Amino acid sequence: MSIKQLVEEKFASLFGGDGRTFASAGRINLIGEHTDYNGGYVFPGAISCGITVTMRPNGGDTVRVWSVDFDGMSEFGLAEEDLPEQLWARYIFGVCRETLKRGGKVEGFDAVFAGDVPLGAGLSSSAALESAFAFGLNEVYGNGLDKFTLARIGQSTEHNYCGTKCGIMDQFASVFGKQGSLIRLNCKTLEYKYFPFNPEGYRLVLVDSGVKHQLASSAYNDRRHSCERAAEAIRKRHPEVEFLSDSKRIWLEEVREEISQEDFLRAEYVIGEVQRVLDVCDALERSDYETVGELMYQTHFGLSRLYEVSCEELDFLNRIARRCEVTGSRVMGGGFGGCTVNLVRDELYDGFISTVKSAYSEKYGREPRILDVVTGDGAREL
Ligand code: GLA
Repeated sequence: MSIKQLVEEKFASLFGGDGRTFASAGRINLIGEHTDYNGGYVFPGAISCGITVTMRPNGGDTVRVWSVDFDGMSEFGLAEEDLPEQLWARYIFGVCRETLKRGGKVEGFDAVFAGDVPLGAGLSSSAALESAFAFGLNEVYGNGLDKFTLARIGQSTEHNYCGTKCGIMDQFASVFGKQGSLIRLNCKTLEYKYFPFNPEGYRLVLVDSGVKHQLASSAYNDRRHSCERAAEAIRKRHPEVEFLSDSKRIWLEEVREEISQEDFLRAEYVIGEVQRVLDVCDALERSDYETVGELMYQTHFGLSRLYEVSCEELDFLNRIARRCEVTGSRVMGGGFGGCTVNLVRDELYDGFISTVKSAYSEKYGREPRILDVVTGDGAREL
């Protein structure tokens, strides 16, 4: 049974009749990590798994949502003080509140949702959840909000109701994604460009460490503050620096003594990473995958040693990839666990997968999950 059938059947049995069904996607990111909230470039794409929701206004002022995956119902009102208990329901509540704050209409509705984004792998199941509801509510209530506003609704939900001061990348990819494409987004100007992604002779594969560190969101927010402090110091000399990504490497050098060593290293990583995204795009246009891969390794080094969002398991996976002559490999997403993204030549794929599985289970006592990347479409009605 498809997920669409599953949620529609559950909807009929809980609420009777049927609603309208929407879907949205999880995301990967080829390169450009922790650059979004620094006004830099990212290069994500939507994947073929996501969240599917059926919804229908119920004529009242209460929202009733059934989660197939958590096997439970949440009921809440739409006022600020009605924040639900269940963590998963807070994402939906946040989307409702943020839609209302932007002048959209949301009244009581019934919904059933289910997902197939692997949880905890850093594929942004939460952005998929937010985008599916943001998109669906926009359609059902005829609000006419544009796609960027829908992405912002998801991002503000994270900020205001879920405690992560994230950038726009995940929600952007989840709303704007297109099958067969990655999207380069300038997070300052919001200009974006679709790049067809079909690296002939290579495969993109995720290796999930299965690790999810507690306190990831406070560590994430700390990184963001480091970047803001560095940008502020640079701005005193170069007022045109609105975001850290506007800074030249040499300008960072000028403030080395004025900021902490930690903030300096974080900023050094970000400034390098913004350039790497552009270099990867150029390399892709030449089908130069060796360069793409080398830049991915550089990103891993930066995320691990300068930005310090990797962990032992992810560094181990990265080393194994190098040893297997994988073209490119790096920790993907916010870090502190989750997966590595690997660009692997076709003929090395089987050898890499079996080596990484056995080496990882020998060291950590469990096999890593392997997920082949299949791009998909972003938010849409089914
Ligand atoms: C998380 C955040 C994104 C982005 C990445 C790191 O996925 O939600 O906004 O900052 O981490 O690139």
